[in-house]
Amino acid sequence: MLIVHTLPDLRSALAAHGRPAFVPTMGNLHDGHLALVRQAKPLGDVLVASIFVNRLQFLPHEDFDSYPRTLEADAAKLRAAGCDVLFAPREQDLYPEPQTFKVQPDPLLADILEGQFRPGFFTGVCTVVMKLFCAVFAGKAQGTAVFGQKDYQQLMVLRRMVQQFALPIELVAGPTQRAEDGLALSSRNGYLSEAERQEAVQLSLALRALAREAVSAAHALPNQVAALEQRAREALAARGWQPDYLTVRRRSDLQPPQVGDALVVLGAARLGTTRLIDNFEV
Ligand code: PAF
Repeated sequence: MLIVHTLPDLRSALAAHGRPAFVPTMGNLHDGHLALVRQAKPLGDVLVASIFVNRLQFLPHEDFDSYPRTLEADAAKLRAAGCDVLFAPREQDLYPEPQTFKVQPDPLLADILEGQFRPGFFTGVCTVVMKLFCAVFAGKAQGTAVFGQKDYQQLMVLRRMVQQFALPIELVAGPTQRAEDGLALSSRNGYLSEAERQEAVQLSLALRALAREAVSAAHALPNQVAALEQRAREALAARGWQPDYLTVRRRSDLQPPQVGDALVVLGAARLGTTRLIDNFEV
């Protein structure tokens, strides 16, 4: 596996190859990331992963400074998973000057849920992903990028970006990987104390319960959804969580559902100082 830090080095590493398959990450890799790498491997002629903790997608009070940087261990895991090229730009490689041009996603999709509680988050994500796409796919007729479904809204926003800019890139969703007890794998799980780690599965359990209730109330969902969501939030809050949202949405645009819509339940909640997210398609 080749490790490159600069755009020129990345481009010359990829020059001899055809269609890249790409897995962008912020590092601190766990089995969820490695599953994406293994899924991406047969989808291109060369497997590229990136590791970059993107300042633009963190709010000032969030964990940008403390986000774990574990490049050496990550590189070893990627090598073992079959990665061909690791692109690990330093801040000055990707942002040599302040990034004043940004990709502004549709507020109807990007200012709700995660975007409501993390304003500007999706602008930061879209901007860095567009930049990473330019780095990896420039000069290529086609490519594939794989993103985890745990970040459900992120995947939808990025799909819209690819569609609206007519990028010749196929986005593929990787299923959420879970620990034995059902907790969705996430780099931020590493922030949890032992007791919090035991408790953390309750977010996914609350979402599964909400999904079951949404199915039972499907015929009257628009009227009942607020009450179901409130009960789910209260149940989690009673266990000591601070929920941002636990909600039932329609899959197509993440708006409140109408009868007959395909549904997804999504949640974000803080346990101690750690903010976790999860979702299930219903
Ligand atoms: O999902 C992530 O890890 C990040 O949001 C991404 C897509 C790598 C952009 O920084």
